[in-house]
Amino acid sequence: MKRLIAIDGPSSSGKSTTARLVAKELGYIYIDTGAMYRAVTVAWLRACNQNNSIFPESNKEALTIPNESYDSHFILNLLKSIKIELKQSKDGQQTFLNGKNVSDEIREPIVTKYVSPISAISSVRDYLVAQQRELGKNGGVVMDGRDIGTVVFPNADLKIFLIASPEERAKRRTLELLAQGKNATIEEVKQLLIARDNYDSSRENSPLKKAGDSIEIDNSLLTIQEQVEIIVNLTKT
Ligand code: DC
Repeated sequence: MKRLIAIDGPSSSGKSTTARLVAKELGYIYIDTGAMYRAVTVAWLRACNQNNSIFPESNKEALTIPNESYDSHFILNLLKSIKIELKQSKDGQQTFLNGKNVSDEIREPIVTKYVSPISAISSVRDYLVAQQRELGKNGGVVMDGRDIGTVVFPNADLKIFLIASPEERAKRRTLELLAQGKNATIEEVKQLLIARDNYDSSRENSPLKKAGDSIEIDNSLLTIQEQVEIIVNLTKT
């Protein structure tokens, strides 16, 4: 039987890497739902600035976000004008916005900065949750996010809630950023992670929280391979 596996947890808790490897091990499709919220954020930034490119982080002071851009008409029109597609490749999930590959843009710091408020908007969530349900309806999917086990697939066959200490998460994220040639200190990254966790957990719509029947795995002291093995074994029980 092809199952639906939900992996939720806070930012940088290792969900994506773990989910991708679990999917590979099981021959399932991996779906990173955070990438979908990020793609909407890219579309929103472009629409706000009526400019077809991402603003570099150095321009962030110049970036004014009109209040009306949170207005429901603005968001609903935006959602009507976009198409988000996820394609599987040997390098993992590729995210397309209106036919263009935005897999790199969605990781830009400015997108990370705005994705939490954008993902708290209920019309954005309704729009993406419907697509996520469609993508997972036949099973054979490992889906990661914040609300997969609570809202998107409350009847998922296996629900995992991945956590790690903020220090450990910040350390991992800083190493990733440095490897990409970006400047970052562990303390800065930790503060941003905590702020995003607070935002994601306290929002009204589908906040980040552990489903009652979810299995919590603290991976602060686990290697990726160890946690993948734990999850793969859980699918066999
Ligand atoms: O996993 P990530 O950091 O790429 O997610 C980006 C943001 O998207 C995160 O701050 C919260 C939001 N998100 C969400 O609200 N629900 C999901 N299922 C996935 C992500």
